[in-house]
Amino acid sequence: MFPYQRPRRLRKTEAIRRMVRETSLSPDDFIYPLFVTFGKNIRREIKSMPGCFQESVDRIVKHAKEVHSLGIPAVILFGIPEEKDESGSGAYDPDGVVQKAVKAIKDKIPELCVITDVCMCEYTSHGHCGIVERGEVMNDPTLELLAREAVSHAKAGADMVAPSDMMDGRVEAIRLALDEEGFPEISIMSYAVKYASAFYGPFREAAQSSPKSGDRYSYQMDPPNRREALREAALDIAEGADIIMVKPAMSYLDIISDIRENCDLPVAAYNVSGEYSLIKAAGKLGWIDEKRVMMEVLTSIKRAGADIILTYFAKDAARLLNR
Ligand code: PBG
Repeated sequence: MFPYQRPRRLRKTEAIRRMVRETSLSPDDFIYPLFVTFGKNIRREIKSMPGCFQESVDRIVKHAKEVHSLGIPAVILFGIPEEKDESGSGAYDPDGVVQKAVKAIKDKIPELCVITDVCMCEYTSHGHCGIVERGEVMNDPTLELLAREAVSHAKAGADMVAPSDMMDGRVEAIRLALDEEGFPEISIMSYAVKYASAFYGPFREAAQSSPKSGDRYSYQMDPPNRREALREAALDIAEGADIIMVKPAMSYLDIISDIRENCDLPVAAYNVSGEYSLIKAAGKLGWIDEKRVMMEVLTSIKRAGADIILTYFAKDAARLLNR
């Protein structure tokens, strides 16, 4: 039979393509990551992440204003403390870098949603995401510290906390502590499905958080596992998570799609540092069209089922979308 159905009819003009387009991006979809460091008037570019910076609190506020003015609703903060120790005490220091940055940003731009990453790896001398005893990352003793960290962020004025450590039971520990301390309205975006990925390489330069010995395979998920993602998400939902995150994004679109199918909470996906650096590097070399590849990747993450995308491309993409 001759083709009475011709899919090309609906691809004929941009106006028609716009009408039948199934996925669209908006600056509303993005969360922009910021790296806060100690000191004053510091803005240091991260070598492996061109266009991203470690910045002191005064500079972070200016940067957050720029993010807000582009129509991006939220930032997520990572801290680089002046000193690190065995128990990561900088993580829950009321005068820590993140706590100061949250206060300063909320003071100047109250409408901007400020999310904090809750983890120990940026604050511990050994660089692991929890307390280490006899070479082991200890689960239960870490929970109390994570809860303290989350409460200290809430006290500083954070709107939302995002635990990224992958200890079992941490969403419940954080929920209970927040409620007990008078923060029942603070939401938890859980890095529920976080794989032990080589795509985090550039981030570890940015946050100076590489483990000094060993790796993160005993707590982050094994990349070949797909069913396990559903279990991780279900546990965090039962513990009180408000948003479920999948991380990384680009090589894990099947996982994002599974979580979308099986869970009715908002789904976030983290387009991580290595995914950013690959595109930036190839773009610089002139091997790909950086802007088009960026938009294609972000669209694919949305198409797979993410409602929210954490991405270092947020500002570049918002600029294009706002045109
Ligand atoms: C902290 C944390 C990491 C990232 C976000 N939170 C690094 C890691 O787990 O080693 C990675 C983000 C990125 O690569 O962009 N645990």
